[in-house]
Amino acid sequence: MQGVTVVDHPLVQHKLTIMRDKDTSTASFRRLLREISLLLCYEVTRGLELTTRIIETPMQTMEAPTLEGKKLVFASVLRAGNGLLDGMLDLVPAARVAHVGLYRDHETLEAVEYFFKAPGDLGDRLVIVVDPMLATANSAIMAVDKLKERGATNLRFLCLLAAPEGIARFTKAHPDVPVVTASIDEKLNEKGYIVPGLGDAGDRMYGTK
Ligand code: PRP
Ligand code: URA
Repeated sequence: MQGVTVVDHPLVQHKLTIMRDKDTSTASFRRLLREISLLLCYEVTRGLELTTRIIETPMQTMEAPTLEGKKLVFASVLRAGNGLLDGMLDLVPAARVAHVGLYRDHETLEAVEYFFKAPGDLGDRLVIVVDPMLATANSAIMAVDKLKERGATNLRFLCLLAAPEGIARFTKAHPDVPVVTASIDEKLNEKGYIVPGLGDAGDRMYGTK
């Protein structure tokens, strides 16, 4: 699929299977999401521009690769996005962070905004939007809309699970935003949940069911 990468790494798939299991505890779910986020972060940052700088190793001078440009922004779609964010910040500790607070209205499945805070210079940075679930895509589309309104032009979207319906809607609304995911599941059910899925990601992370 154009602009969509499925990370089929065995470690990602193994951890995802444990997360899907309804008997997995809240503590294990949270730990696995953090572990998977390291592996997904590795994939979504593949292809970042490099430049070089001159350093002195203990042996000699060398021109060594280093990341080019301004620090990345990780934009977490609250609440569940924070489960991916924590691990990603372990790998890229200098990244800036945006928070986009959205919840799904359970009747209409429309996304409702309740919070937005982002660095002021989004236009100069690569913005990686993180949310474990891409279901109808209403939340992802709105999050990217808001970030673009604030100047972001270079974005990627990272999730753990996607529904085919959500992928289709998101790539139509934002064809310039590549998507990275660990799985494209079978479908959405009549309540807008991904199946087979893993249930409600926020509830499973925080034990709020
Ligand atoms: C979940 C998930 C996404 C959204 C995906 O959040 O984390 O943000 O649903 O569904 P969509 O693609 O149909 O919009 P939820 O609204 O349950 O909020 P939470 O993270 O606070 O639990
Ligand atoms: N949000 C979730 O957390 N899970 C789904 O399956 C769909 C939306």
